[in-house]
Amino acid sequence: MNDGPSKPEAELLRTRKSGPLRGSCRVPGDKSLSHRALLFSALGNSRVTIAGLGLGQDNASTAGALRALGVPIVHEQGRDAAVVDGVGFAGLKKSSAPVDCGNSGTTIRLLMGLLAGRPFATELFGDASLSRRPMGRVAGPLGLMGARFEGESRADRPGDLFPPLTVMGGPLKGIRHDLHVASAQLKTAIVLAGLQADGPTELTEPGLSRDHTERMLARMGAPITVDPASRRVRIDPTGWNRILDTSSCHTIEVPGDISSAAFIVAAAAMVPGSDITVTDVGLNPTRTGILDALVAMGADVTIQVDGEMMGEPWGRVRVRAQPLKGARIDGELALRCLDEIPILAMVAATASGQTVFEDLAELRVKESDRITSIVRELTRAGVQVDERPSGLTVFHHTGKVQGGRAVPDHDHRIAMSAAVLGLLSTEPTEIPTADIGTSFPTFAETLSNLGASLN
Ligand code: S3P
Repeated sequence: MNDGPSKPEAELLRTRKSGPLRGSCRVPGDKSLSHRALLFSALGNSRVTIAGLGLGQDNASTAGALRALGVPIVHEQGRDAAVVDGVGFAGLKKSSAPVDCGNSGTTIRLLMGLLAGRPFATELFGDASLSRRPMGRVAGPLGLMGARFEGESRADRPGDLFPPLTVMGGPLKGIRHDLHVASAQLKTAIVLAGLQADGPTELTEPGLSRDHTERMLARMGAPITVDPASRRVRIDPTGWNRILDTSSCHTIEVPGDISSAAFIVAAAAMVPGSDITVTDVGLNPTRTGILDALVAMGADVTIQVDGEMMGEPWGRVRVRAQPLKGARIDGELALRCLDEIPILAMVAATASGQTVFEDLAELRVKESDRITSIVRELTRAGVQVDERPSGLTVFHHTGKVQGGRAVPDHDHRIAMSAAVLGLLSTEPTEIPTADIGTSFPTFAETLSNLGASLN
């Protein structure tokens, strides 16, 4: 197990009470789209240049893993471009060493689907956070298709599987499967296995998770069809030549990550007098729940679509601060902003009344147990919060917001949420920066350019 010894744990970001945030900014490329652009390009029949690639360590983990599997990729960590020479499924080679997935759940789960159909064994591992994330949900359906997995077990989660794990791939058969959880990582893993299977695969989701995979694969000629009404995805590889057609996407331009923009947008909604615009950001409706949630809380949000890239709308978001009110965030809306619940919980502290979050069981198995992490950070800051097994209620905080040392627990979104809450505190809030680089390494610089008080 690799606990990320290369991360400089001691480095700290300090945030403190800030005047209005003003101006416009961009954010690094969308992390989810970047994973898929790298991986699907590797399965293609030509060279693809990816521009605006996510800058974080998670995307670098996917690039590194694909390189270990024999895919020619030119990419330097921290640069927003990559060139991938597609090799197709058949061109993937056995890695000479265990493959490091870092902190990235998307990397390991998508690789499980990809490797399920390859005729060799691969060991996948990650950091301490990844090592406690459940993989049985992926291994289960892939096992029904014919793949085998060996990995760690845990007494408190009998029957589940944890990294490090070994995928023993081989011939796959298609399945019909109802997902127990709405998860784009799980959905994509099954789709990648389905593309290698000897017959059709059909899956349905209990709720619509982000649909980047369906949009991008359809553009690359994959035999995939989607029935949005029943949330059914079907793969029929019969007669397909098992290589994605990337010849018409020489350059993929990844729009900015709405999940990173969320921190900027939320900061503007919370800090009185703010007026900011984030440009060139992805606006896929399965990802814009954060904006709808802010509107439900009374925020002044203007959205403008400026273009489309491989079926993905992108554009600009303007937010002007004004008094907020509590709201109820649950069901389909909660699913559409699941990654943004930590920052929304911080915003909720500034909203009158109370904000009730429900249907968040999945938050407990993210990079950290995010319900516990949110409660810990809000409580440290003096905000009243009630915790439930799959929800929480945040109460309006009218007193002083306290500073102190945040404990992100290897979770980038908790680190950045604590930093943004710190913009309301006269005392400094200290945040270990190591975890921020997972998705948004330019976070501090971006906030500072808009006028936030950091050092
Ligand atoms: C992601 C899917 C989501 C999300 C994660 C990225 C993806 O996870 O939380 O940050 O790129 O597919 P789940 O699939 O577990 O919901």
